[in-house]
Formats: sequence, C-alpha cells, structure tokens
Amino acid sequence: MQPRLWLLVAAQLAALHGSSALLQTPASMTAQTNQTVMLSCEAKNFPTNSRIYWLRQRPAPSTDSHYEFLAFWDLTRGTVYGKEMQQEKLTVLRDSSRYTLSLQSVEPSDSGVYFCMTVGNPDLTFGKGTQLSVVDVLPTTPQTTKKPTPKKKVLRFPNLVTQKGPSCAPLIVGLLVAVTLVLLVSLGVAIHLHCLQRRARLRLLKQFYK
Ligand SMILES: *[C@@H]1O[C@H](CO)[C@@H](O)[C@H](O)[C@H]1NC(C)=O
Repeated sequence: MQPRLWLLVAAQLAALHGSSALLQTPASMTAQTNQTVMLSCEAKNFPTNSRIYWLRQRPAPSTDSHYEFLAFWDLTRGTVYGKEMQQEKLTVLRDSSRYTLSLQSVEPSDSGVYFCMTVGNPDLTFGKGTQLSVVDVLPTTPQTTKKPTPKKKVLRFPNLVTQKGPSCAPLIVGLLVAVTLVLLVSLGVAIHLHCLQRRARLRLLKQFYK
C-alpha cells in the first residue's frame, strides 16, 4: 500500500468535483488557537467496512499546498496515521456512517481544506471539503445572531455610529452644496453669456438690415 503518490494525483483530479455521497460538514469554519475542532464526513451508501481517508490541503501561499495524508479509519485497524502526523493531535471517530476527524489544540498552521475520501473500485470518492481557518483571535462573529447581546456592545454601537455620522455627513453635505453652487454659477454664467451673445447678434443684424 503506497497511498502517498497516487493520492496526490488522484486528489488533484477528484477534488475538482467532490461528491455529495461523502457529505462533509461544515463547509467552512473559523476556530481559535487551542480549540478542538470536529470535522464531520457522512458516508452514505458505502459499505460499513469502507476505509475513510482524511486529507488536508494547505492554503495556496503555503510552501506545501499539496494534499497531505492525515489518517484513515479502517474497520480492523482503527485509526492509521500518516507519516509525520502528530497522533495526539488527530483522532478519527466513527459512528455508523458518520466519520469525525477531531483536531486537538489547533494552530494557525492547521488551516486548510480538509477532505474525506474513500477508495472504491475503481473510483475515488471525495467529499467537498471543509475549509478550516485557525486564528489567534476570533473576529466578532456575526453567525451567532440569537446570542443575547452583551450590554457593552449595545452601548458601543450607537456611539460608533454617532461618532461616524457627524464626522462624515457634513463633509458630504458640504461637497454637495459646493458642487451645486458651482453648477448654478456656471449655469448662470452660461445663460448670461448666451444672452450677451444673442443681444450682440441682434445688434449686429439690426445694423445689417438698416
Ligand atoms: C494555547 O495554549 C498554550 C498552552 O496552554 C498557551 O501557552 C497559549 O498562550 C495558548 N494560545 C492562545 C492563543 O490561547
């Protein structure tokens, strides 16, 4: 069994059209450093002795943006880890058709797209991947809408708005007024010039036909 080489090639091809037969959830997630992250892969309509592989593709700017073989789960052997994988970091769990990759104490370097995959005969089937971003400090999450909003935040937001409002609005109003004035003045000038021209022409014509 030499999974590494053919995995690289096959993964590049097959990941382009991940199958919904391996349903990976969530599609993407952001985690904080040191958190434990659970990635799920539901393998429907596969034999229960299917071997489920987990692969990772690091983000493109990384020096190694190829697919790394993390681990696979096998009915007889349980979790089998890839070379150079920290075993205390990865756990593969299986609950009937649901396979879970658990990552302990994630770090920013664990960011990437995680794929589950199974080897059929002859086809490889890939999930659509879970995009994991690990950050030291989580950005304020807009996902948790139902969370009771802390009072500090409620007080802060109007402050921010009112601070932003006056500092920005007069500028825009001023600009608008200035632009309007310039337009009005040039309109006036144009009308004036037009009148002068007409008067001059009339005078000229009068002189001619006299
Ligand atoms: C992660 O855990 C380590 C060890 O407990 C700690 O030293 C480090 O400060 C933690 N990092 C963050 C970002 O919480």
